[in-house]
Amino acid sequence: MRIGIVGLSRGLYMAELAHRIGIEVIAVCDPDSERMAAARAEFPDARSTEDWAELLDAGLDGVVLANDFDAHAELAIAFLDRGIHVLSETAACASEEEGRRLIAAAERSTATYSFAENYVFHPHTRLLRESVDSGELGAITLVEADYLHSLSPRDTAALIGDPAHWRGRIPPTAYCTHTVSPLLDLAGAWPVEVSAFPVVRVTTAPPPSCWQSGSPTARWP
Ligand SMILES: NC(=O)c1ccc[n+]([C@@H]2O[C@H](COP(=O)([O-])OP(=O)(O)OC[C@H]3O[C@@H](n4cnc5c(N)ncnc54)[C@H](O)[C@@H]3O)[C@@H](O)[C@H]2O)c1
Repeated sequence: MRIGIVGLSRGLYMAELAHRIGIEVIAVCDPDSERMAAARAEFPDARSTEDWAELLDAGLDGVVLANDFDAHAELAIAFLDRGIHVLSETAACASEEEGRRLIAAAERSTATYSFAENYVFHPHTRLLRESVDSGELGAITLVEADYLHSLSPRDTAALIGDPAHWRGRIPPTAYCTHTVSPLLDLAGAWPVEVSAFPVVRVTTAPPPSCWQSGSPTARWP
C-alpha cells in the first residue's frame, strides 16, 4: 500500500503511524516549509510538493487528508475520482452541498472513502457499545452527548484565537464529529435528518432592574 499525506501537522503523525504498520509513505504535501522540512527528515525518499493536485498522478493507492478542517471535500472528491482511496482525518465537509457531492463521489468511485473518526475507539465509547450489545442498557431511544475537550479554557482560547487559522474561522458547531460519531456507532445509524436547537448560554450579566438581583440571564447566541 503506497500512500500520500496532505497536511503535515496531524498528517505527519498519521504518516508515522502508517509507516509503523508497514504502509509505504511515498509522497508528502504541505505549503508550510517548516512542516515540510520535518516530513522530509522522516521520509527522505518520499516525493514532496506544495501542491496536492500533483499527488493525483503520483502512483498512490491511497491518500490521507490532514489539511485544513474545512477544506477536505474538494481534495477527497478529486482523489476518489482518480480511484485513489481517501482517508479524511476527522472533518470532511463544510456544507450540506459539499457533503452530498462527497457521498456521490464515494458511491461512484472504485476506491473507498474513510472518515477517520477516532472517538468511536475511546474507552468510554467502547464501554457503552458493550453495554448496548449485551442488552444491559435495554432499547436505546435517546442519547445525548457532548464533546468535552481536555484542554484548559485558556489553552482552548489560544488554539482558536487566530481568525486566519481554520480553528478560528469555523463556526463553534462545526467540529461536531467527536460528539456525533460515538452516537452513530452506538446506534449503528446512517443520519438522514438533522434537528438542531439553540443552546442557552447562561451568564451572570447584570439583570434588568425588574429581575431579582443576581438572577442568571439567558442569552441566545
Ligand atoms: N482526530 C483527531 O483527534 C484530530 C486531532 C487533530 C487534528 N485532526 C484533524 O486533522 C486536520 C488537520 O489538523 P491540524 O491540527 O494538523 O491542523 P494544522 O492547522 O496544525 O495543520 C494543517 C496543515 O495542513 C497544511 N495545509 C493547509 N492547506 C493545505 C493544502 N491545500 N495542501 C497541503 N497542505 C495544506 C497547513 O500548512 C498545515 O501544515 C483537521 O481536519 C483536524 O480536524 C484530528
